This record gives sequence, structure tokens and C-alpha cells, in this order.
Amino acid sequence: MLCSNSVAIQNDREFGIPQSTEEKVSELIQRMNLDEKIGQMSQLQAGCGHIPDHLADDIRHGRVGSVLNEVNVDVVNELQRISIEETRLGIPLLIGRDVIHGFKTVFPIPLGLAASWDPQLIKQTCRISAQEAASCGVNWTFAPMIDISRDPRWGRVAESLGEDPYLCATLGAAMVDGFQGDKLSEKGAIAACAKHFAAYGAAEAGKDYNTVNVPENELRNVYLRPFKKLADSGVASFMTAFCDLNGVPATGNSWLLDDVLRKEWDYRGLLVSDWDSVIELSVHGFTHNDKESACEAVNAGVDMEMASRSYKHHLQQLVDEGRVDLPQIDRMVARILTLKFDLGLFDNPYTSAADYPALVNVDHLEVAQQSAAKSCVLLKNDNQVLPLNADQMSSIAVIGPLADDDYEQLGTWVFDGDPHHSVTCKAAIERLVGDKLDVRYCKGLQTTRSESCEQFSEALELAAQCDATVVVVGEESFMSGEAHSRASIDLPGQQVALIDALAKEGKPLIVVVMAGRPLTIENILDKADSILYAWHPGTMGGPAIADLLFGFQAPSGKLPVTFPRAVGQIPIYYAHKNTGRPVSDVNCLSMADIPERPEQTSLGMASFHLDVNYRPLFPFGYGLSYTCFEYSGIRMARQQVALGGQVEIVADIKNTGHCAGEEVVQLYIRDLVGSVTRPVKELKGFQRVLLQPGEQKTITFTLHTDELAFYGRDMQLNTEPGSFQAWVGGDSDARLMIDFDIYDDE
Ligand code: NOJ
Repeated sequence: MLCSNSVAIQNDREFGIPQSTEEKVSELIQRMNLDEKIGQMSQLQAGCGHIPDHLADDIRHGRVGSVLNEVNVDVVNELQRISIEETRLGIPLLIGRDVIHGFKTVFPIPLGLAASWDPQLIKQTCRISAQEAASCGVNWTFAPMIDISRDPRWGRVAESLGEDPYLCATLGAAMVDGFQGDKLSEKGAIAACAKHFAAYGAAEAGKDYNTVNVPENELRNVYLRPFKKLADSGVASFMTAFCDLNGVPATGNSWLLDDVLRKEWDYRGLLVSDWDSVIELSVHGFTHNDKESACEAVNAGVDMEMASRSYKHHLQQLVDEGRVDLPQIDRMVARILTLKFDLGLFDNPYTSAADYPALVNVDHLEVAQQSAAKSCVLLKNDNQVLPLNADQMSSIAVIGPLADDDYEQLGTWVFDGDPHHSVTCKAAIERLVGDKLDVRYCKGLQTTRSESCEQFSEALELAAQCDATVVVVGEESFMSGEAHSRASIDLPGQQVALIDALAKEGKPLIVVVMAGRPLTIENILDKADSILYAWHPGTMGGPAIADLLFGFQAPSGKLPVTFPRAVGQIPIYYAHKNTGRPVSDVNCLSMADIPERPEQTSLGMASFHLDVNYRPLFPFGYGLSYTCFEYSGIRMARQQVALGGQVEIVADIKNTGHCAGEEVVQLYIRDLVGSVTRPVKELKGFQRVLLQPGEQKTITFTLHTDELAFYGRDMQLNTEPGSFQAWVGGDSDARLMIDFDIYDDE
């Protein structure tokens, strides 16, 4: 179905000479009045299943460029029809939706996906999400969130790709590839959005929406890196952050949005505000009222206002007063129209679900299972309790508030996920080994937050009767995500008490944790024989976990975030600076080491806490398999590398265990001396390798010296010649190291 107005735009050309998008956009802009331009800059909330009269009216009058949160395909088509057939210029709508980790088929939360360290697989999950969403008329997702997150109290750590700029940039780019496909106009491609620009994850105390203070150098070297990478790789849009950044809220921050994003990076895509973040500029105390907020946001470069209506109400007057200039508005509208042309909306504005693969089909579920399996991280496996051997057992107890909860395993941001499709751990274990084992289930606790222990006796009885216990604990999905930060990140409720009690039964105890963040789980470490960290694993979490528990697949996930022992260690991340007094095993003290009335000088003068081991509970990059990998033979053909040349680091890895396994081989670098201090280690590469028992492989990492560049004291991006160290290993504690130098031969 092609509408009359858009045909008019297409056919407006004489002689049939094809126009470039730029020409089409500029021609259209010439035909628009200011009202219509301002209309394009507004994004409104849809009615969720129906079209409220005021929305239809606004669209008809050309006052809307985009709507968000409508996924009923008939309603979306009707919205498009009104916008095309009942407006003067027939411009189609952008239809936005938070498609964060799946649509109807739900994949692991982004932090879980990041634990797979598998860009190809992550790209596939986004491809599927895009197709499912597109089949309902969505053409724009507000993902990926690429905020560096070093504070697990922050609820949105769940939605992030973790603490590291390199990992986050690499996986974020894979997500964009998945959403956007080769070409935005392809069927099933949707526009992606890099958010939240910028440093939203550095909120003080991990409280959502809170103040952020990050010095420019740190901002450039850490927080902006993934955004730069996505800007360079063609992400269609950016979203501003809610937070105050160094005293200027991000949505009105012209240094960030104009000087850096537009001028320095030459980013040409669309920049949308976050929900109401334009009018919140006055709540921050940055402006007096909505009119001033609109003025600041537009002049900083926010092309489209989400939800609030300050552009609609005030832009005309701001233009009349000469405080916003028309060419600026035209540039902003041009970016919005360009995206609409790129998406092919002028040619194909309507959606027919029949043109797409079915929602939640078997192929989608297969990828959901694979991604859930690859995202699980095995944190502990004493005496090789896992994998369980169903042939050598007769019964298994499946216990815990999350063992059979089809909704909670989906995690945060699942507007469209349908729990009826979920397969829980209990159901999956029954399916997988129910013909061999007696699978006995009880909850033990009503919810993860329950304080009542009245179901404990039933749980203990079950555990006593069975050969092994799998207890599925963690956080319910609402405990992470937007506005859901926590001050304590312990296992909530009486879950630790449940684990304690089960441990006393003396049967092999396997703890599966489903959570939206790293939890402080040192208090269960000694109690559990094995701990499998499953994040919120999505629709197919159960089958993925069952496969891992019974050895149909070996775990291969690696932590994308450091696990603290205590909240007091936060922020804790592997790529920290050395300080002038670095801590080590020989200069740290624990409370127990300190004599009564100690001499001041007898205390360790290093950077640590007296009351907690200075090491994290589990380091970034960590994760076990059912087999063991041995690293050796780190070498370089040349340890002196000229600036502009290639650094090549080679190492051998061997599977020394008895089963096949996949390992994520990681490369870390340290730049020993810089014009600004450098982190003690920085991830610079990783490769997933599959090794059969006894098999050895040689792994090569090749870096251009530009990949060692950082922003120095002058805020310029340069690789500084000097001495470096490189490590290759299975986590950020890697010990296998080689030195090299970069020299400038100019
Ligand atoms: C607010 C969130 O911060 C943002 O990430 C999301 O995309 C918008 N709401 C739209 O739902």
C-alpha cells in the first residue's frame, strides 16, 4: 500500500532522475512551514493499543515526528496512515520502542549477553529482536545502552555491557550491526540508538538519575569510547543522558552534544532526548522554565524531544525572538527526515506481519537458549560437582524462589516478553532428565525477598531425600533496571539462610544465581559446591541452565564486570590506576593482623580497606569451564615496534582437562608511563576458541599502535612511545606477561 502524498514526494521529480537522500530531504524541508518542522522534532507517547483523539489530532496537524511504545501492528499502520494521508506533506512516523534484549523472544539481559563475550551471537540476538519488533511496525529501538558501569548498585548495570570500554564498544557495535542489518531499508532492520550520552553509569552512589562528575580526561578515555566507536560505525541515533554531567545536564550540554559529538566526531545521525529530560533541565536548576529548557536543548543540538512538549510550545517563539535560528532547526529536521528516508519509510510505511518470520519461532528460541548458555558464568566448581551425571543419580532436589518462575527469569526491560513462552529451570530439568531421575521441587522461599522461613523444613526434607540439590536464588527482575538501584547488593530476604541450611544437609549443593547485577555473594561461597551465575537468562534460561548442569554443554561465560566482596569496595574495576602506593599481598593488613594499640608506622601504607580483602571476589574476565586451560609461550616476533606499526603478541593455550571446552582468550596491555597515568591493565583483544581435550592452539593478537592511543594531558588522542607490558590469559588476573617498547623513528 503506497499512499498518495508520499507518492507525490517521490514523483515530484521531473524527468525521473533519481535524487539523493540529501536532495529529497532538502526539497521536503523547503516545502515545510516552521510548525511542521517543529512537529518533526516531537516524539509522543502512543496510546498502547488504541489512538487517543489528541494524538490523532496532533499527527493530522503535522505536530508529531515520532511516537513511541505502540506495538500493535494495526494501530501502528493506522498511525502511519494518518500521518501520510491526512497531513499536508505525508511524512511517515518513526515508531520507537525499547527493544533491549529481545522482543517477544527474550534473550539474557544485556549484562548477561556481555558475559558471552561473543559478538557474533549477540549480533544474532539483535537481528532476531529487530525482525520481531519490525513485524509489529517498530522501526527504531532505544538500544544499545553503552554506558560504562562500574557500580553494581546502579539498577541499570543490568542493561549495560559492563565495566570495560573495549568490551562495551565491541559488543555495542555488534548489537548495532544486528539491529540495523546491512542497510536500514532492508526488511527487518530497525534503527539503533547509542545511549545514554554520556557517563550516565557514573551516577554518584549508584543512584539512578544522580549527579555525575567525571573529569574530561577520564570521560574521553573511558566513558566516551564506546560512543565514539558506535558513532564511527554508523549507529543511526544517539540519546542524551538524564544526568547532570560536571555541572551541565547532558541534555543541555553543548560541549558534549555540539563540540564533541557534532563538531569533533562529525556525527550526522539523529539525537533524541531521554524521556522528559528536556523539561527536567529546569528541575536540575539549569534553566528557569520549559521555554528556557527548550532553548538550551535545541541550541545544544537535541534534534527530537521525547515525551515532553517544550519544543511544540516554545520553539516558534524562540525563533521569533532570534534565540534559535532557522538554519539550526533545518539541520535538525534534516537529520530526522534523513533517517526516515534511510529506513525506506517513504516507500514502505506500512507493516504486514505476514512478511516476517513468526514471533518466538523455534529458530529464535534456539538462539535464546544458546545465548543464555553462553552467558552463564561458572564461578565455583569444587570437586567437579558439575556436571551432574544423571546416570549415577536417582533423584535431584530443585529448590528456590526462582527455580520455577517464568516471569522473573526474563529480567528488566521486557515490555513485550511473554512469560508464557519461558521455560524455567524446574521444567527444563524435568524435560532433560525426568525419565532417569526423580526431580523433586519446592520453593523454599515465596520470593527472593521473603523473610518467612516457613517453607524451609519442606526444602530441607527434599534435599535430605535427594542425591543433589540445585537451588535457584537471586533477585526478582524489578530489583534492577531503571530507577531500581540498591544500597545493599546481598542476596535479598532469607536466601542466604536457605543456602546455609541446605549446605548442612551435606549433599552436593549447586547454587544458580539469577540477578541483574553482580551480587555480594562471599557469604555463600563456602556453602556452595558450585555456583553458576545465570544473570536473568530470558525465555530459554531453563533449558540453557539444565544443559550446563548436566554437561550437555560446558560453561564458557566470562564476567563483564568485577564482583566486589563488599559494597564498600565500589567502584571496583580491573582497569584502575596504580596509585602512588599500590597494594599487594605483602603490604596489606587485615583487622586480625593489627595488634592492640598499634604503632602508626606498623600499618601497611598502601591503598586498601582494613576490613575487606583488597582483591575482588571475582575479577573481570573470570569464568570457569568443566575443563582446564593452560597458557604458555607468550612471545613477539619483535618487541621493539615503531609507532605506526603492528604489535603482534602470540601465546599458546592447551586444554589440559578431559572434556571439550570453549575459552575466551583475553589480551591485556599496560602502558607503563604516560603524560596522564594509565590503568594497570586494559583489555585490548579477545578471542573465543574451542579446544578438544589435549588440544593446543596458538593464538595471535595483532594491534596497530593506534589501538594503544589515549587522550593525554592536552586532550589529544595519541599513542605515546615507551614501555608496555602485555598479558594473555583467561581473566584480568592473567600472569603470562611479555614486555615491549614502542619507539618513534621520526
Ligand atoms: C527512559 C530511559 O532512560 C531510556 O533508556 C528509554 O529508552 C526511554 N525512557 C524510553 O522508554
